[in-house]
Amino acid sequence: MSAKVMRGLGRRRFLSTPVMETYVVMPVKPVQWRARRLFIIDQTLLPRECVEMALPTVDAVWEAIKRLRVRGAPAIGICAAYGVMVGILERNPAGVAETLQAVRAAADRLSTSRPTAVNLFWALDRMRRVAETAAPGAANTETFIDRLEAEAMAIHAEDEAMCLAIGRHGAPLIHENAGVLTHCNAGGLATSGYGTALAPMFVAHEQGRKFSVFADETRPLLQGARLTAWELVKSGIDVTLICDNMAAQVMRERRINMVIVGADRIAANGDAANKIGTYGVAVLAKEHKIPFYVAAPSSTFDLTIETGGQIPIEERDPEEITHGFGLQTGADGVKVYNPAFDVTPAQLITGIITEKGIIESPNRENIARVLGT
Ligand code: MRU
Repeated sequence: MSAKVMRGLGRRRFLSTPVMETYVVMPVKPVQWRARRLFIIDQTLLPRECVEMALPTVDAVWEAIKRLRVRGAPAIGICAAYGVMVGILERNPAGVAETLQAVRAAADRLSTSRPTAVNLFWALDRMRRVAETAAPGAANTETFIDRLEAEAMAIHAEDEAMCLAIGRHGAPLIHENAGVLTHCNAGGLATSGYGTALAPMFVAHEQGRKFSVFADETRPLLQGARLTAWELVKSGIDVTLICDNMAAQVMRERRINMVIVGADRIAANGDAANKIGTYGVAVLAKEHKIPFYVAAPSSTFDLTIETGGQIPIEERDPEEITHGFGLQTGADGVKVYNPAFDVTPAQLITGIITEKGIIESPNRENIARVLGT
């Protein structure tokens, strides 16, 4: 079904937008580049409204990433790559040297938006590297800009392919009548395609398997309740929403056979940062002898750091906890600690599902073997 324009000035509400033939249902593309303009689905409005917004300036791209209008590690990287293009076009540069300046300025600015997801820095580094390499031999400004646009589009297309491959590698792990727990949102909204943690679910569903998903609501910003539940309901996958503090009970009741979550950064030893609460789920899974899988593309690995202890953890505004979604739920004057991510040690991870295959018992050697690094 085609997108229906509901509001002016680049804001549209989608009913449903098919993007790849292989999808049973894929309702939205969270990041789009059309006619050299950048659009995102404003995820802060989901699930009430699915509204597209244009990001015409680097400041708007920065704000959208910071405020989680676009979020999820791969989607942030894709948006930032296009954000560099926005920075170029915003300046309307007179020559190659000025274009290169625009790339550097946009990349520097966007790299300050969020610290944990390495995909942001990976995508910005790719754009920077292409710019620095292509600038000296560029025939003219337009061919230089074309080269950079091609790189941003390649980052986008590669992510789509990686997600599908993750889905295909992970789907056989989901058995008929399985119960799968997931945390936060690592679905289509967090990537450019099938998602990472949700990709095996989408593929298993396409293959006709029946299984149920339990989605943690994911305090404080409710990505599980607002986004994962929305995607799975739309796709016709059986999904049950639970509060974060119910996971232990649901595991004890033997409703869960496996856990699959996404990741924002994976260290060389296999330690994986993901949405706050993931570590707790991993501890619970171990206690209940339930396999715990992380699903992530190779762009989420940061092999420059040895362990998860070196991953920068974003701390967010206390108001997300005391006044979540505009309602005061914390006492006036209370101190708040609001880390947005935690690190699950590799020893608690059964396997990491990547586009190149599953890394069983992740450690430096097993990661290098599967990723070919
Ligand atoms: O703060 P968010 O919503 O950007 O956090 C997202 C997550 O933690 C996801 O699980 C992770 O980015 C993987 S997305 C495929």
